[in-house]
Amino acid sequence: MSKIFISCALPYANGPCHLGHLRSTYLPADIYARYNRMIGNDVLFVCATDEHGTPIAVKADKENKKPIEIAKRYHDMIVRDVESCNISLDNFTRTSDEAHYKIAQNFFLELYNNDLIYKKDIQQLYCENCNKFLPDRYVEGICSFCGADARGDHCESCGRHLEPTDLDEPKCLTCGHTPIIKDTYQYFFALSKFQKDLEEYISSHDKLPANVKNYSENWLKEGLEDWVLTRDMDWGIPVPLEEAKGKVIYVWGEAFLGYISSASQWSKNSNKKWEDYWDDDVIHFIGKDIIYHHAIFWPALLKAYGCKLPDNIYAGEFLSLEGEKMSTSKNWVVWIKDFVEDFDSDLLRYYLTINAPLNKDTDFSWDDFARRVNDELADVIGNFLHRTFTFTHKYFDGNLPDYLNPDDEDTEFELLMKEVPDTVGNLISDLKFREGLIEIFKIAKIGNKYFNDCEPWKAVKENPQKAANCIYLSNQLAKILAITLKPYIPIKADEIAKIINLNNSNQWKDANVPIPVGHRISKAKPLFKKIDDEIIENEKEKLYKNLKESENMSDLITIDDFGKVDIRIGQIKEAEKIEKSDKLLKLQVDIGDKVIQVVAGIAQNYSIDELIDKKIAVVVNLEPAKLFGTKSEGMILATDDSVALLSPDECNIGEKIR
Ligand code: MF3
Ligand code: ZN
Repeated sequence: MSKIFISCALPYANGPCHLGHLRSTYLPADIYARYNRMIGNDVLFVCATDEHGTPIAVKADKENKKPIEIAKRYHDMIVRDVESCNISLDNFTRTSDEAHYKIAQNFFLELYNNDLIYKKDIQQLYCENCNKFLPDRYVEGICSFCGADARGDHCESCGRHLEPTDLDEPKCLTCGHTPIIKDTYQYFFALSKFQKDLEEYISSHDKLPANVKNYSENWLKEGLEDWVLTRDMDWGIPVPLEEAKGKVIYVWGEAFLGYISSASQWSKNSNKKWEDYWDDDVIHFIGKDIIYHHAIFWPALLKAYGCKLPDNIYAGEFLSLEGEKMSTSKNWVVWIKDFVEDFDSDLLRYYLTINAPLNKDTDFSWDDFARRVNDELADVIGNFLHRTFTFTHKYFDGNLPDYLNPDDEDTEFELLMKEVPDTVGNLISDLKFREGLIEIFKIAKIGNKYFNDCEPWKAVKENPQKAANCIYLSNQLAKILAITLKPYIPIKADEIAKIINLNNSNQWKDANVPIPVGHRISKAKPLFKKIDDEIIENEKEKLYKNLKESENMSDLITIDDFGKVDIRIGQIKEAEKIEKSDKLLKLQVDIGDKVIQVVAGIAQNYSIDELIDKKIAVVVNLEPAKLFGTKSEGMILATDDSVALLSPDECNIGEKIR
């Protein structure tokens, strides 16, 4: 038995949870935690709300409230959301907790006393209109590394952690003024001293997934710089030094310690030592936007403190919604709360897991959700279970019949299903959650085929033992499903176990222990209902209505500064007609570092086939615009009736031509 410390990234307490949170962190962490408990490992699974930093302070400013009021409001909502999806956390605390303050301040002092945190005079952005320094998200501008719009703490486009002074054309978020540069001092963490340690850490941990490894290696190649660990702000954990009045610890300098403070709070209540879990095996589940923090800062901080480093970091890629990037400010999201009002959370857990591997970006679409629920959960898994239980009652009075003289079909089916628990278990251990679920789905499909081939409704008259064998084995598979589905869809799995009258379905190893002959099976209950088209149309309508209400996107494409038009060579990868328009095509254009969507009025002049793989010139630095409800992120160079198709040999994709 091993002990495992599992955490999911601490959500900022500045909004409720949406599907993206669930998909990238809570759900995979929960599947992993539940599975490990089922194989007898001792799991400590913790999280907390991240309550400091500008995300909460900015929101509080906007609402004219105290940051702690905002944090409390969203902490409560987040707890509700996480519980509604049955995330089996052992502890969920808050970084505004007193114990967390103590841990964070002690940690800071320890590093300070070891000269790994030091004081330095610097210049920072200051808004003269608001009379305050502008840390992190208080300022927006253009990322000086990649040219994309960015906030003062992070560039979504290149994934870099930023300092406000890394922004070109900075603007105060509160009032829009251009800040000045002003002298101040801050405390720095000597991150650069850990360059070697981190290189060693990243290269020696072969379990680290490719996205974490690759990003980290690239950042390490650029070389690490010391890191400003304090802020001039009211909201946050005070720097524990007499001389540093008015300064707080940067949120990323203490939030990680929420893993520890949550665990130590749990320790107090459980009389177990969290350190034993940390020393054994630590895995952090995070979203890909915070790889830098978890693979670079956090291990360096831990190293500085003299602690064991995390054994693994698993970073979920992004979830989009109906093909568009999710955006809370545009209300282009599905909130967990709204979802679970209309559907069982297990349906969501199923969909978000089976839809794509965690290391790939993926999309949530209502149609696809309904399709998978109807065609997979209802038609395959639900149908198999339903007919199994119904026939057990119809022909065998609800008692598990004898299994005698199996024929080849029976034996083959039995062998196949017996492999499933191990196969699925190994996949989950390897963090291949989707692949594991697919194995379960596949065996249910095989179960249906076996059932059809056996034709128990006929066999019961002609060859009753054949029918008995079929019903016997089908119930055994039902048990395997009840147990192996449990990490994925715990509530539904328990419902299945209840019908089979399993008195314990918590042990993975029991999956292949056969239900004894004569065992009582309860009456079938509908487990997975199909979702009507009407319901889905309704959900879509809600979504688009929300978007409209919040939308102030202009219909016109605007270029901020004409001198800065960025024209690149792109290659058309896909083209698709836009409904309700006879002119417009939606193109996916590869511009070297990414693929953008461009809407162009050329449907009448080119067939789709003609356009695929053609190279074109495209303006890429536009504010996205909406055309017929479709987002366009660029504009191709074209006259009224023709596109400037470029001759293939002369140009390279991604090349900047202006
Ligand atoms: N609140 C941060 C975010 O949402 C994540 C913090 S994770 C932890 O990006 F490491 F700080 F715990
Ligand atoms: Zn201002």
